[in-house]
Amino acid sequence: MRLRDKVILVTGGGSGIGAASCLAFAREGAKVAVVNRTLSKAQAVAQSLADSGETAVAIQADVSRAADVERMIERTVSQLGAPNVLFNNAGISPSGPVGDISEADWDECLNINLKSVFLCAKAVIPLMIEAGGGCILNTAGTFGIRAARNKAAYSVAKAGVVNLTRSIALDYARDYIRCNVICPGYVDTPLNEGFPPSERDAFLAGYQPLPGLISADDVAEMAVYLASDAARMVTGQVFVIDGGQQAGLFA
Ligand SMILES: NC(=O)c1ccc[n+]([C@@H]2O[C@H](COP(=O)([O-])OP(=O)(O)OC[C@H]3O[C@@H](n4cnc5c(N)ncnc54)[C@H](O)[C@@H]3O)[C@@H](O)[C@H]2O)c1
Repeated sequence: MRLRDKVILVTGGGSGIGAASCLAFAREGAKVAVVNRTLSKAQAVAQSLADSGETAVAIQADVSRAADVERMIERTVSQLGAPNVLFNNAGISPSGPVGDISEADWDECLNINLKSVFLCAKAVIPLMIEAGGGCILNTAGTFGIRAARNKAAYSVAKAGVVNLTRSIALDYARDYIRCNVICPGYVDTPLNEGFPPSERDAFLAGYQPLPGLISADDVAEMAVYLASDAARMVTGQVFVIDGGQQAGLFA
């Protein structure tokens, strides 16, 4: 029970890494606010937690909108209590070379992947200061460390998340608020469901040194450690889970 009685808010909790993290957090004793833009997805995860006797609420919010973020925090506080941990995990992953990205698509990608992290952090920081500390965890990705072809808006947004993580860590260390970022490689989630398995396997053969697929559960396990008091002196750091891809230039 590494997270006993902690209130944890997970954005993008209705699918993939977020859903796996909600289940892992609850198994470790946390009360979980499952936040998603599509309410039915959040409800499905919250219901499966309730079915196994865990405490969870489903909250609809578009985390790129300040008003939704305020409402999301108010509901979490009123139903579960002030969040001890915020997991900024919601994201979208559009593709396209720089010259083909419309202004609207650029803004949407930056707003959902990066501005949301700023808005959600800004909303919980006063509560965490009042509580004497807290933990903010972000999901960026290896594309936030090195750019990838045809992923300009996404790579830029995730690089922003990496340095926003460091900024939050530095600005609030003396308030005992820790902030870290997880950078997964290719993870087998609905985000990648447009990738046919045969093409995916050929891609991974040249991209990821360790054989096999990284699962959402693999990432959730890392999130549990970072959210727990076992990581009490860990802040401002980038945690890569990529099957060794970042270890060298050519897999
Ligand atoms: N899957 C990968 O290969 C991979 C790799 C690196 C990083 N990531 C990052 O991990 C995070 C989770 O991705 P995933 O693979 O679990 O994807 P996913 O599509 O399975 O889950 C993302 C969830 O975020 C929700 N969401 C999207 N926009 C939202 C918004 N504006 N407000 C609230 N919810 C919103 C979606 O509805 C979805 O439920 C994302 O930030 C993604 O960029 C994923």
